[in-house]
Amino acid sequence: MTGLLNVTVHTSAEEERVSAVAEIIRGLTADQKTLSPKFLYHEEGSGLFDEITRLEEYYPTRIERSLLDGFGAEIVREVRPHEIVELGPGNSAKSGTLIGPALEAGVLKRYIPFDISESAVREGAQALFDAYPGLAEIAAVVGDFERHLSAIPQPQGTRLIAFLGSTIGNLHPEERSRFLREVRALMPRSEDALLLGADLIKDTRVIEAAYNDARGVTALFNLNSLKAVNELLDVDIDTSLFRHCAVFDDEHSRIEMHLEATADVAFTLPGSRDTVRVRAGETIWTESSYKFTKDGFAETLHDAGFGNVRWITDPEDMFGLVLARP
Ligand code: AVJ
Repeated sequence: MTGLLNVTVHTSAEEERVSAVAEIIRGLTADQKTLSPKFLYHEEGSGLFDEITRLEEYYPTRIERSLLDGFGAEIVREVRPHEIVELGPGNSAKSGTLIGPALEAGVLKRYIPFDISESAVREGAQALFDAYPGLAEIAAVVGDFERHLSAIPQPQGTRLIAFLGSTIGNLHPEERSRFLREVRALMPRSEDALLLGADLIKDTRVIEAAYNDARGVTALFNLNSLKAVNELLDVDIDTSLFRHCAVFDDEHSRIEMHLEATADVAFTLPGSRDTVRVRAGETIWTESSYKFTKDGFAETLHDAGFGNVRWITDPEDMFGLVLARP
């Protein structure tokens, strides 16, 4: 059987660069300096994240993977998706746990990966295309999920939308609600389903250890945001003047990653004489990773228009897959 592999690109490198520069300047001139977590993945950052997922302390990827291995087949036998839309799959490394069983069930026709990284999408789509000759069509979309979700093709049958890896944890509450409502709008049929991976609240020490690994890989990942700034803004921030910190904030139920200046740092923004000053002890906030309770997250899903919410977790409730219907 000859399948169809198609990649549509909704962002241009130049458009991304221009919007990234504006976003960085906005963030670094705010009272609490911030950088979007997307800069963590700049260049070597993606490789560092891969390394994080294999760390002893970093439980989310390992547990989610075992839940997908254990329950992926059962989930797709229940949903019987004609198509799987995967949001943020990167190179689609986990996607086989759903695609394989869905093909075996004889129902899957189309896989639609949606990701910001064109190279990852192409690599992943090609690998799946080769691995699953029974899959009739891969319609990959390259875009930003805050702007281009509408570029996802119209459904052609029962749709399973997967959003794995607890990427949802990077969104602040209002962004999270908006995103979930937009995802809900991509699911017109009552049989459609959302499968989402979410990290759960647990002992603070376990969470903090996952973001302060002994080998310092997470520190390098965090510092990589500054390399993105150096490159995109053509400045020369000395990364050795910053220290990685990751602390759980109970009130907001999120781990925050910051880069703390260990000395006064200053650099001049391109195309202006404005100087950004980071005082010793001041931080740049680079990521929030929210942790959820099952009930709290179910309520957020209900508010976004989902019903019928079912959790699948490990025995210790460390991490959960949640299956929700419109
Ligand atoms: C990919 C956003 C789920 O929040 O745990 C890993 C990224 N940051 N270590 C997370 C991350 C620090 C990760 N997410």
